Amino acid sequence: MDDKEVGKYWDKNAENWTKLARLGYDRCRNLINTPAFFKMLPDVSGLRGLDIGCGEGYNTRKAAKRGAIMTAIDISETFIKYAKESEELEPLGINYQIANAVDLPFPDDHFHFIIATMSLMDIADHKKALSEVFRALKPNGFFQFSIVHPISTGIWEWVRDENDNIRSSDGTLQPRKIGFVIKDYFKRVEGEIEEWIFSAAPKEMTEKMEKFRIPRFNHTLSEWLNLLISIGFTLEEFCEPYASDEILKEYPEECASRIAPFFLIIRCRKKN
Ligand SMILES: C[S@@+](CC[C@H](N)C(=O)[O-])C[C@H]1O[C@@H](n2cnc3c(N)ncnc32)[C@H](O)[C@@H]1O
Repeated sequence: MDDKEVGKYWDKNAENWTKLARLGYDRCRNLINTPAFFKMLPDVSGLRGLDIGCGEGYNTRKAAKRGAIMTAIDISETFIKYAKESEELEPLGINYQIANAVDLPFPDDHFHFIIATMSLMDIADHKKALSEVFRALKPNGFFQFSIVHPISTGIWEWVRDENDNIRSSDGTLQPRKIGFVIKDYFKRVEGEIEEWIFSAAPKEMTEKMEKFRIPRFNHTLSEWLNLLISIGFTLEEFCEPYASDEILKEYPEECASRIAPFFLIIRCRKKN
């Protein structure tokens, strides 16, 4: 499956994704990933930045509010339409464009920094996308990105204690998750379609919606890190975010994020 075909799946997901995410149901992003990502992000005030795979623009807006001069691209026309609508309602100077990460429409050495939040693992030719990032970064510019943690992109399942229920934030009882079994970390996944929808959204809402259909790709941790090194990046900082104590008080079901890492944030730099 190539990136253009992957893009068609994403464009079909974009309408419902935007609707649910804007109602606050992309909880992992809002509660776990984005806070950790922006805690780790260096000062970007006054810098020229690019967001790759920006979706409806949630994290691009956050970077712009930190004072960065942002451009953002996504392969999905629908996501970009919604991102541009937000820009009209609340102008932050963001330039949104429909573009493919494997062929960035920007000159060499152009951006002070580039971000990509939860998009690179969805890109079929991630090697080409990473070399495009390197090309478009100014010398000494940094690239910070988050992905689904390689530990949870192979084959795995939860271990649950059926005798110990926890009450989740929507009032329902769920068997407590107590472990995480990796069944095949090294399995090659190349464009298999995964179907799901934000589980935090009310059932009455999601049962009338088509589930997201997402082409999946997986690469091991060493493949990601060796690829960055071979392109010429210097590795700088890592984070495996999980729910804070405060979050757990309000959303007890997010305790699962403390059993195994679901996300990985990496910052690397194009050293002079
Ligand atoms: C999981 S969403 C993340 C969206 C957003 N960054 C966020 O954190 O909410 C992945 C995004 O990657 C985009 N995407 C997938 N393949 C792409 C490609 N080749 N070029 C640009 N964007 C791509 C999808 O359209 C989608 O918006």
